[in-house]
Amino acid sequence: MTTLTITSPAALVTAPLDADDPEGLARLLVKVTVERGFRCGSYKERCLRRRIAVRMRAKGVHTFDDYARVLDADAHEYDRLLDALTINVTKLFRNWDSWSALAAKALPKLWDVTGGAMRVWSAGTSSGEEAYSLAALLHRHAESRGETARLDGALVLGTDIDRASLAAAARGTFGDAAFADTPAELRERYFPGALPAAAAPELRSLVAFEHRDLLLEPPPAGPWHLIVCRNVLIYFDRQTQEVLFERFHEALAPGGMLFLGKVETLLGPARQRFAAVDQRERIYRRL
Ligand SMILES: C[S@@+](CC[C@H](N)C(=O)[O-])C[C@H]1O[C@@H](n2cnc3c(N)ncnc32)[C@H](O)[C@@H]1O
Repeated sequence: MTTLTITSPAALVTAPLDADDPEGLARLLVKVTVERGFRCGSYKERCLRRRIAVRMRAKGVHTFDDYARVLDADAHEYDRLLDALTINVTKLFRNWDSWSALAAKALPKLWDVTGGAMRVWSAGTSSGEEAYSLAALLHRHAESRGETARLDGALVLGTDIDRASLAAAARGTFGDAAFADTPAELRERYFPGALPAAAAPELRSLVAFEHRDLLLEPPPAGPWHLIVCRNVLIYFDRQTQEVLFERFHEALAPGGMLFLGKVETLLGPARQRFAAVDQRERIYRRL
């Protein structure tokens, strides 16, 4: 049996990694893909490498093979690694400027087309902040027109690969940090009460959550009037991003919209299949 090198806590931060071991890394990524169904091959290698390095340092191991043995012996660490690889950072109304543009330029048009029965897919929703943000803007738009009854057929579906995040999304309660980008008016209206603040019933009735791996499964049954996928595709390699843009295009209803936000960029052949609604905030309309 191989003995793992355990270093002192102080050394964990600076423990050198055997980072120049491409075969060791490849073996580890295949292991995680096969054993946990997390398709590492589609993610950018430097992101995976960085996240794995953090976990290796935390466990005080220096080689990928030693870390693989840690995973065999410690199911909890395996979960921690998966958690690190999925990167669940999110906030309500994250980057408010982008949401503001969506509310002004996309929602009114989509409302006119759908008569309120709007179907929205938040792909890579993490713990649901994005889905609740969408539900709040949709409800606010309906309320401003005195047409909340029309929301009966509306749906905001949040999907993610991470089941723990989805369980948090279903609870729909949020701590202070989740509100850092939230305008006071929206917080008071839709997340009243003490922290952790629960989403108002009007939002809860609009949202649903389900597990879905964007890489292994097709989009949920559509068509969708709006697909929101933010801070997710940047972790995938270019080829995978291009495939997903094509899938989003197919899943959208004619005239439906794709909201990427500032971080992602529309790539590949799909660029010809969308027109910009707001180039800066990366809001596109399906052609
Ligand atoms: C940084 S969060 C983005 C959350 C939210 N969209 C936002 O912008 O605030 C990235 C999310 O993508 C999810 N994710 C990563 N790979 C995925 C995959 N293959 N299928 C579905 N979701 C995935 C992660 O679990 C994580 O919740």
